[in-house]
Amino acid sequence: MRTISAVLFIFSSLMFNLKATPPDPHSCSLPQQVVVQKVHLDLKVDFNQNILKGSAILDLQRADTMAPLWLDTRNLKILKIIDPQSGEICKYTLHPENQWLGSPLEIELKAGLTQVRIEYEASPEAAALQWLSPEQTLGKQHPFLFSQSQAILARSWMPIQDSPGVRFRFDATVQVPPGMMALMSAENPQKKSPDGKYSFKMNQPIPAYLMSLAVGDFEYKKIGRNTGVYAEPRALEAAAWEFSEMQDMLDAAENLYGAYQWEQYDVLLLPPSFPFGGMENPRITYATPTILAGDRSLVSLIAHELAHSWSGNLVTNATWNDFWLNEGFTVYFERRIMEALKGKPYADMLELLGWQDVHHTIEDFGKDSPSTCLKLKLDGKDPDDGMNDIAYEKGYFFLRTIENLVGREAFDAFLKRHFTANAFQSLNTETFLQQLYQYLLISEEDRNAIQVEKWVYQPGMPDNAPQPKAELFDKVSEQLTQDLPDAGIAKAWSTHEWLHYLRHLPEDISLARMEKMDNQFGFTQSGNSEILAEWFMLAFKRNYQPAYEAAERFIIQTGRRKFIVPLYKELAKTPKGKMLARSIYAKARPNYHFVARATLDDLLGA
Ligand code: BES
Ligand code: ZN
Repeated sequence: MRTISAVLFIFSSLMFNLKATPPDPHSCSLPQQVVVQKVHLDLKVDFNQNILKGSAILDLQRADTMAPLWLDTRNLKILKIIDPQSGEICKYTLHPENQWLGSPLEIELKAGLTQVRIEYEASPEAAALQWLSPEQTLGKQHPFLFSQSQAILARSWMPIQDSPGVRFRFDATVQVPPGMMALMSAENPQKKSPDGKYSFKMNQPIPAYLMSLAVGDFEYKKIGRNTGVYAEPRALEAAAWEFSEMQDMLDAAENLYGAYQWEQYDVLLLPPSFPFGGMENPRITYATPTILAGDRSLVSLIAHELAHSWSGNLVTNATWNDFWLNEGFTVYFERRIMEALKGKPYADMLELLGWQDVHHTIEDFGKDSPSTCLKLKLDGKDPDDGMNDIAYEKGYFFLRTIENLVGREAFDAFLKRHFTANAFQSLNTETFLQQLYQYLLISEEDRNAIQVEKWVYQPGMPDNAPQPKAELFDKVSEQLTQDLPDAGIAKAWSTHEWLHYLRHLPEDISLARMEKMDNQFGFTQSGNSEILAEWFMLAFKRNYQPAYEAAERFIIQTGRRKFIVPLYKELAKTPKGKMLARSIYAKARPNYHFVARATLDDLLGA
């Protein structure tokens, strides 16, 4: 299939003299020939069978009037495809499934046809969707459904050109059971509709990976002028309190890099099985409840997802090989927002924790591993397996290196231009570098000073990376020389300082010391997920039994991959631990979303 597409692509590029952007290795669609411009969804959410059922009308632009329409699908049941004007049937072929890429859907297009209507059903096993029973929710009364489309899972709940290089507008009507609310990456309701029918409109063009749908017993609370939060009623107040700085974040972001292009910015609080920390669905960021620490200490995650409204949602990576353009820029922007809100010493802590993370990752992969390059080569791979922290933190330090050389003022002007000039477009690494050379690193001398090629195409961390420093952490490090930190000093520590402390305890720490610390500071019982995850790591390394029961509960409760995967991995290092890991996983698996299951099935065996 791919070979045929590639040949067709080259052929059509020659015939139509199209810009020779390389095709996306993770989509069968050939947008240079026929591209979807607008989607009209009409869906019914069936919680009895856990299926979405309905239709998608696609508005098409046809550069090649002979070519068929190619769509990505995965596990979809295609019922019928028609011309919505005449009602005439369209011929189609659903090609055999190709692992994570799914089944290409090829639709013949008669002369002049610019719309098709596809009637379809998503499977109860749709990879993007998690269907939760009422018992798995806070309220216990209603079920819950949420989607996670990034990276290439949108195709499991709609037939679509599932490439970050293709953007479309959409509208939708969604029927849900009465008493429940539906939310999408679009203009959203703030109240439940009595008949369970909702209409949505997204006027800005977005790529498929940003399509989202959530259905549950939601209530809304406004936070600021154009910000607010959705959650199950029981968590609404806590979420609104924790995220009370959202409006300040949005104002700070606009101040830095220009107007917010999506009108409204809301957060939806998801159940703990959400496999990520956050997901930047346009207008409606999804967030894990594991950031409800009760002290607002983990809200840089909201700043991160908000920053994606510029880096990612406005200027989008063209393929998943360019993922660092989404995440590296977003981490940089996130830290600038946090600096604006909380000051430099705070942002310095985030940066230094990031530095520790990236070095850990490079050590894990090996400093010569191609997985540590910014530009990835994910062709022939499931992008979900190939995308890692490197995009985030190596990407961040690359941008910091440039900032250090040219100065903040020039760098900010460049970034502002970057978001304005490339708005609502996709960019690959090479086009970005061209612009970097054209507008910022104009002299050969500057380019050599940065070593751009090394940063982007070589593995490991270049030696001109700025070594970050955080004064607040120096004070923490001083406390590491004694058995326990001074209680008077530690009383004032934030989550980040504790993380720094825990990460720097000696690898062979004695069980007696762990117990003393645990008794004094209550790590095993902590309500802070980041501290718990760090502490349980140490507990597994040292076989500190008093934490095992709480650790097991945490792992079963939480589906956030960043926490559970390293914990399972650590546990599975010994034969006895592996047995325990497997038995915990057997209990936990029914609570996890598909993407967490996929990772852990590989790790532990299904
Ligand atoms: N867009 C990502 C989540 C993602 C990445 C989903 C790749 C699927 C594939 C999101 O913006 C993100 O980066 N989330 C982080 C939190 C952030 C603070 C680093 C996460 O989920 O941990
Ligand atoms: Zn992100």
